Formats: sequence, structure tokens, C-alpha cells
Amino acid sequence: MRIFLFVAVALIPLVAGRDTGVARQSSPYQDLSSCPEDYGLQTYAHPKNCDQFYKCANGTLTLETCENGLLFDGAGSVHNFCNYHWATNCGDRLFDPDPARNPESVCEYSFGLFKPTAADCDIFYYRCAYGEAEEVACDKGLAYDDRSHSCNWPDLLLDIGCDPEKVVGFRCPDVSSLPPNSLVRQFLPFPRYAVPNDCGRLVTCVNDYPRLISCGYGSAFNEDTLTCDDAENVPQCANYYKE
Ligand SMILES: *[C@@H]1O[C@H](CO)[C@@H](O)[C@H](O)[C@H]1NC(C)=O
Repeated sequence: MRIFLFVAVALIPLVAGRDTGVARQSSPYQDLSSCPEDYGLQTYAHPKNCDQFYKCANGTLTLETCENGLLFDGAGSVHNFCNYHWATNCGDRLFDPDPARNPESVCEYSFGLFKPTAADCDIFYYRCAYGEAEEVACDKGLAYDDRSHSCNWPDLLLDIGCDPEKVVGFRCPDVSSLPPNSLVRQFLPFPRYAVPNDCGRLVTCVNDYPRLISCGYGSAFNEDTLTCDDAENVPQCANYYKE
């Protein structure tokens, strides 16, 4: 039985090699010279280059190249079926990692998300397309982290210079100063507080650093229960979503 299996496995590459006339490629993707399907729109990864792919539009084959900063893996589409290079799974397929060098621009690559400053805490980022930067604000209370390419709680970004009190605009009270039987103590170790002049949000303190949290549309922070509640149930916020 063992001998039979060995023979069967050894024969497969020989048969495949004879069929196609070439040695089997290590890439799971094939070079295409015509479209496998006659109708509709399909894309196929290029076997060697991660910044290229084949596109079939109703049977018409074109070799497409992603814009600078973008690559293709068939998933995600920032522009023309290509995705940000850090979000693309290239496997063994290769690409030129050189950015488009325009020293005037904040866009390191022609397409991408970029942090405005190298070392400081930023509450916005640049989204570049064709080398043109658009400023995108993080949601209130968050700061941009270029390691995750997303906005995050500032207390998780202390190492890149974020001051959560400054980003959130709130200083967490000293826990030992909270009255012994106060409701807020029931939420320890994550005490929560109303945000002055902001019906729709609350602050939760994590290791004494504030995190700004949204109650969600139609909901307001109820200081009597320290929870988000239907705005109608919070008298001073009843008109918050109506104005
Ligand atoms: C394919 O052809 C149909 C019918 O002419 C058209 O509606 C459709 O947009 C075409 N699709 C592509 C990807 O070109």
C-alpha cells in the first residue's frame, strides 16, 4: 500500500508536465493569454507580480498594473481592484516597494494613508489618491496610528506621544476621591463619567486615562444610571437629536 501511494504521488508531476509542456510553476496563479470566461467581469492575479493582474471584461483580456502604493490579491478595492500594499497578501508574488518620490507631497506613495507627523500624536491622517492628499479627521477622541493604519484610543498610543487627556479633553478623577457609595464605584475598574456639554458621549477611564465613547444615534448619556439611554429618557438631552 505504501509503495502504491509513493508511485501515484510521484507520477502526478510527470503527467502534469507532459500535458502543459512546461514544468509546474510554484505559483498557484497562471499566465493568461485569453479569458477563461466569455461574459462578465473577472480579475485574476498575475503569477509573478503582485502589482499586476489580469482583467477580463466580457472576454476581453487586459493586463492591469496597480497605481503606486497599491497591490492586488483579489480582495479589497481601494482603486481599480487594487488594495493598500500593507493590506495585500502577495504570497510569493513580487512588487517594487519604492514609493513615488515627490518631495513636495505628504503622500509617500501615490495611493495610501499617511501620518501627518513622524513623532507626534495626530488626530487626523492623510488619504492620498493620485498623489493628492485629503485630510481625514479621526472620530472625536481618537488619534491616528500608522502601525494599524487606523484611528485608535489615545491611551493605547502613549508610545507615539499621545496625551489622552489632551486628545479627549477630560481628566480622570482620582478614584480614591470618589464618594464611598457613589454609583460610579460600581463601574470600577472602569469608572464612567458624563462629558460636559455633550449629551451623546461618555468617558470611560482605563488605567486613569480617558476614552471617549459615543452612545450612538438617538441615545444619550443618563447621569442617573451612568448608562446610554433613549434620549427621550434624559430630560436635559431630550432635544439633542431634534435640533
Ligand atoms: C458586458 O456586456 C453587457 C451587454 O452588452 C454589458 O451590459 C456589460 O456592462 C458588459 N460588462 C463588462 C464588464 O464590460
